[in-house]
Order: sequence, then structure tokens, then C-alpha cells
Amino acid sequence: MRSTQEIKVGLLGLGVVGGGVAATLLGQGDALSRKIGRRLVLEKILVRDPAKARPADVPAALITTNPEEILADPQIQVVVEVMGGAQPANRYLQDALSAGKHVVTANKEVMAKHGPELLALAQQRRVHLLFEASVGGGIPIVGCLTNQLLANDIRSVRSIINGTTNYILTRMAHQHTDFPVALKEAQERGYAEADPTNDVEGIDASYKLSVLAYLAFHQRVPPENIYREGISRLQAQDFRYAQELGYAIKSLAIATLEGGAIQARVYPALVPLDNMLAKVDGVYNAVEVDGNLCGRVLFHGRGAGREPTTSAVVGDLVEIARRMDGAGPLPPVAALERPWPIRPIGDLRSRYYLRLTVADRPGVLAQIAHILGERLISIAAVVQKDTNLAEQTAELVITTHSAQEASVQQALREMTGLSVVRRVNNLIRIEE
Ligand SMILES: NC(=O)c1ccc[n+]([C@@H]2O[C@H](COP(=O)([O-])OP(=O)(O)OC[C@H]3O[C@@H](n4cnc5c(N)ncnc54)[C@H](OP(=O)(O)O)[C@@H]3O)[C@@H](O)[C@H]2O)c1
Repeated sequence: MRSTQEIKVGLLGLGVVGGGVAATLLGQGDALSRKIGRRLVLEKILVRDPAKARPADVPAALITTNPEEILADPQIQVVVEVMGGAQPANRYLQDALSAGKHVVTANKEVMAKHGPELLALAQQRRVHLLFEASVGGGIPIVGCLTNQLLANDIRSVRSIINGTTNYILTRMAHQHTDFPVALKEAQERGYAEADPTNDVEGIDASYKLSVLAYLAFHQRVPPENIYREGISRLQAQDFRYAQELGYAIKSLAIATLEGGAIQARVYPALVPLDNMLAKVDGVYNAVEVDGNLCGRVLFHGRGAGREPTTSAVVGDLVEIARRMDGAGPLPPVAALERPWPIRPIGDLRSRYYLRLTVADRPGVLAQIAHILGERLISIAAVVQKDTNLAEQTAELVITTHSAQEASVQQALREMTGLSVVRRVNNLIRIEE
């Protein structure tokens, strides 16, 4: 009987996500097998620390610290990797695929750095490698880009794909707090790690964007080719002024294919308040895909956490169980014969928000406008803010029309040389 057929699963990792996957496989086995017609049997779970307390519902006999008990066990047909980090995860995934096992991973770092090779290996070994949980937690974006949206030429992917930074930025906007205060609160509530570098510097988002760009444009966009700026230099004033100008500030991960070249970047940006992305708050994620056939499609949901990520991982397991019945693996991503070049950030054309502290006296604006004009950067609006009588300074907020990034950076360098410019406080791009 087909319904009694078992698929033996090995789990690498029993942390936040692994705990959720184990609980689902152990606790909801009957319900799952009714849905998919096969029984997913959890055979072994790899952990690092044998002394750590484990959930009571996980039988001790399942736990091992020896990866070979999973990778070299011919009975285990599917390996689920929820350990994290590039190594040894990449090595274990290679071993599992080489041994003819199907693989599900939630690991964006491994997929960003080694995904194309792993997918090629999976294809060569005629097994499946699925990675829905690596981007956007419970949001089904990987499967949609791989399958349902495949007929499209994708023009852009614009996303909020790091819940930690989005939580911090939401608190800064709503509570008018500075970055360190909002970060501390995020850490206390378990939304940010003790070392938040990967999240707040945009590293995590660059891994996820690398995965999305690979799926969207059918070519590798390595994390090191993704321009990256973190959120730590944002201040409470930026949110206040942005709001007055009609914008929210969001950390965006954007990949575009325009004019025969790809550009990929992660940075905080001003987003018009009536744009859907401006309304994505707290730990939520959103991915907007623009395709030539589907137009703009927005995916929104919980981008992390035990339950949403478990939903994605188990969904991949179900997909594998179904595919095991029939056809062999699909080609993972059809590689382009002639890849698009990847443009440097200097080529970006964008609008800009600039906040300067300047001497509070006549003629200052003329000097700044002269530098901008020389670089063909035209001013959209200028607002003078917060005069400091003791220092005899004022804050100047300038927004520009569309200009080239390299010219704007050059103009900034020239401005810092002006005696009337005391500080360049912030430069933030405006995404319309
Ligand atoms: N947490 C989320 O919300 C979320 C969302 C989407 C994707 N992901 C991805 O899912 C993966 C897991 O994240 P997580 O939050 O569940 O991590 P976690 O809580 O830190 O758990 C990691 C697990 O892997 C085990 N492990 C780590 N290195 C190991 C090694 N070298 N050998 C054996 N076992 C090892 C750990 O063992 P011990 O228990 O013995 O320490 C632990 O059980 C990561 O790739 C992450 O990016 C997480």
C-alpha cells in the first residue's frame, strides 16, 4: 500500500527551526501522511552539544553527535539541514547529495555562497535540493520564483527580508528612538542576536538577495557583488524628517535587471508612505516581484521564527515526497548562456535625501547648490531644520531629483571640504 510507504529523514540541527521540524514530524506524522500518502519518519538528529537539554518529546535515541550516522546511513533518503553557517553545512550537504539523498535546507548562507554548485550536484545525482526556508521564512517566494513565475522575465525584486532590522526601524519610526535604544529592545525581546552584526549590517539580507537574484535572473549574483549598507547610522531625526517629507525608512534588498545589466543592493531607503513596502512593519517581511507577464506581485508574511520556518521546511519535505513518486528532478535553474554584467553601485541612478549640519549664515546654500549643480544634481527640495544657537549651526535637509550615485558621492566629498559644512549627517537613497 502506498500510504504505508515510509520516507526516512535525517535532521541536521535541533535549534529554533530543527526543534519545530522535529515536533511536526514526531507529533503530526499521521496528519501529514494522510495529506501526502507517505509517512515521513524522523530517523536521526544531529546536534553539536550532547549535554544540552532537548525537548521532552524528542526521544534521546534519535540524537547523535556523529554526522556519519545520517550521511552514511543508506536507509535515510532525505536530509534536512537546519544547522546554519557555511561550514560544515556545505560539506554535509555535498556528502548527502553525493550519496544520492534528497536535501532540504533553510541555510541562506550556504545557498548564497555555494547554491549553484550544490544544485548542479543534485541534478547530476538526480536528487532534489529544496531551500524554501532560506529566504522569507514562511513566505513561499522560492517556490514561486522557481515554478509559478518562471514564465516571466523578471525586471526587479524589491524586498524587506530581514525581520530584525525591520523591527528596529519600525521602533525608531514609531517611538522616535535612536538606533542603540531600539537595538537593545530588539535584543531583549529575542528579535536580535547578542552580536547583531549580520542583521544590522545587511549581511543576512545580502545572502537572501543573492538567492532571490539567482532565481529571478538565472545567474549567480554573489553576496560580494551586492552593495551593502547597514542601518546603524540612522538617527531619530532622519525618521522625523522622512515622515514630514512623506516617506518611511526601510532597509531594502533590491535586485534589478535594467538596460542589459543587473544591479543588487541592500541599504536603508526612503519609501513613499503610500507604497506597500512602507507599510511592512515589525518582524514582517515582504518581497515584491515585477515580471513582464505577472506585473507587480507582493508576498508578505512572517520572515522568521520557529513556526513559519517549519512550515517552509516541511512544505519542501512534502514536495520531495510527492516528486519521489514520479518524475526525476527538474533542472534547478536554467543557467543563461551569456550572463548579464553586474553593475557597480556608482552607476546607480536614484533620488537622494541629504542631511547636513551647516553654519547658520547667509550664502551657505548657494555654495552647496553650486557643488551639486556642477555635478548635474538637481535639487528637489531644501528644508532648514533645528537651529543650534550656541553652535550657530542649522540642519539642512536636501532632496534631489534622480542623479548618478558616483556624482553624488563626489559632491559629498567636495561638500565636506567646505568650511560652512560642519557635518554630513546622512545620505539616504529615495526609492520611488
Ligand atoms: N531561526 C529562524 O527564524 C530562521 C528562519 C529562517 C531560516 N533560518 C535558518 O535555519 C538554520 C538554523 O537556524 P536556527 O535559528 O534553528 O539555529 P540554532 O537555533 O542556532 O540551531 C542550530 C542547531 O544546529 C546544531 N549545530 C550547529 N552547528 C553544528 C555542527 N557543527 N555540528 C552539529 N550540529 C550543529 C546546533 O546544535 P546544538 O543544539 O547542540 O547547539 C543546533 O541544534 C540557519 O541556517 C538559519 O539561517 C532560521
